[in-house]
Amino acid sequence: MREALSAIERSFREALTAAGRDSAAVEAVRLRFLGRKGELTALVKQLGGLSPAERPAAGASINSLKAEIGEALDRAAATAAEAGRRAALAGDRVDVTLPGRRPWTGSLHPVTQTLREMERIFRELGFTVESGPEVEDDFHNFEALNLPPGHPAREATDTFYLAGSDLLLRTHTSPVQIRTMQASPPPIRMICTGRVYRRDLDATHLPMFHQIEALVVDEGITLADLRGTLAAVWKRFFGDTVEMRLRPGYFPFVEPGAEYDISCQVCGGTGCRACKGTGWLELGGAGMVHPAVFEAVGIDPERYTGFAFGLGIDRIAMMRFAADDIRLLVENDVRFLRQFPI
Ligand code: DAH
Repeated sequence: MREALSAIERSFREALTAAGRDSAAVEAVRLRFLGRKGELTALVKQLGGLSPAERPAAGASINSLKAEIGEALDRAAATAAEAGRRAALAGDRVDVTLPGRRPWTGSLHPVTQTLREMERIFRELGFTVESGPEVEDDFHNFEALNLPPGHPAREATDTFYLAGSDLLLRTHTSPVQIRTMQASPPPIRMICTGRVYRRDLDATHLPMFHQIEALVVDEGITLADLRGTLAAVWKRFFGDTVEMRLRPGYFPFVEPGAEYDISCQVCGGTGCRACKGTGWLELGGAGMVHPAVFEAVGIDPERYTGFAFGLGIDRIAMMRFAADDIRLLVENDVRFLRQFPI
């Protein structure tokens, strides 16, 4: 029995050394020696074949070896577990010097960016920024702007009317000129930015779009002031190389009236798809405030003169961000919007 025990102890030591710091191997050794079919268990079964005199001493020796093996296994298991943890940590090292992934925080819409930039430029030139209602009445949207009922130019824009009233969705920001002149006497230097509505939809027209309106009223204002102001605005917005031209144009609320173009910002004026080969882009209308408009708001046209202009912002935003279909501005596709962070 003693020999059998020391043989088991020896082979246990060998097996444990061979298992090293491998948890699974240590557990296999436990099973081999202490398991139900283990080598030590087999020895316990042989106790029955011993004489009653030998049995207690042999039993005690088996138990003490069993305890010894159990402790040795527990120590080896703890060491193996610790080694396993260290190996896992070493393999899982985090490089804290890597730059983080920035979460997408959203950004201002290209039209809003353009509006704010234009407002900033006009403020620098001494203009106030006014606003007016998007649901307008006939007087402000048409009549006071020298477009009396039955005037043919009313048919030129497709207006959204609110059924059963004389209210409508404003077709331009020009009514804010009227509201500003009604609210305060000259001198006036104002702009208004905002949404306007027309029954239109294709690659270059939206039923809702954005305009800027500008109005200057004082004694001695001339067409030269209009031209100088427009030129200053475009140089600030697009840079010094931009060219501008005025062409005669008709709007009932100005006399003389003009349409104005800037050199194409896509091709630089040589001709491309965006400017239909002309080198020029139409931006809007302008002119000297018509005396009938002054009369509608009670300003003396003998004493005061003024100029006004209007322009579409969505087109400018398209040009600035090189977008080729105006509908991109309203589809809210984040793949488009993410290209213009601010
Ligand atoms: N309101 C005009 C439009 O929407 C643009 C315009 C033309 C505004 C001439 C003006 C102006 O202030 O003087 O087409």
